[in-house]
Amino acid sequence: MISPSIEAAINRQINHEIAAAYNYLAISAWFEQQNLPGFAAWFMIQRSEELEHAMRLYNYLLDRDGSVALGAVEQPRGDYGDIKGAFEAALAMEKANTAAINELYKQAKDEDDFATLSHLQWFLDEQVEEEKIMGESLAMVELAGNDSSAILMLNEKFGARKPEGEGA
Ligand SMILES: [Fe+2]
Ligand SMILES: [Fe+2]
Repeated sequence: MISPSIEAAINRQINHEIAAAYNYLAISAWFEQQNLPGFAAWFMIQRSEELEHAMRLYNYLLDRDGSVALGAVEQPRGDYGDIKGAFEAALAMEKANTAAINELYKQAKDEDDFATLSHLQWFLDEQVEEEKIMGESLAMVELAGNDSSAILMLNEKFGARKPEGEGA
């Protein structure tokens, strides 16, 4: 049995992951509207991954005989200004999510909930990867600046990403 406070914290984290998916969907739509389908496809993969993260926590909570309590999801931004703005928003969101995972980890540690600590290990590693990829992507976008051929090249490059498990 899981403690009520850890149960509530995991439910909040499920909400964060679903909110992240929703934000990535909004970013993807924004890129489609800019006629940059490669970037849009890349953010759709991000969206799928965030939903998977939510489901990992959802299944874990049920495995521990906890109750899933789904909350309201905040409305994402509709406009990101420019390509750099979209990646900046994505990086800020990943950093906020890392902080949320760290907070959850600390809480599980304080309560000696070893199974939750073990489950969260994967998320700690994943956040390192997510921040790295988003930071590198932002750097590439900054390098491209307003050079339209560089932007189109990046659009191709991002569009070539395959969903996890289907090879790189
Ligand atoms: Fe996530
Ligand atoms: Fe993420």
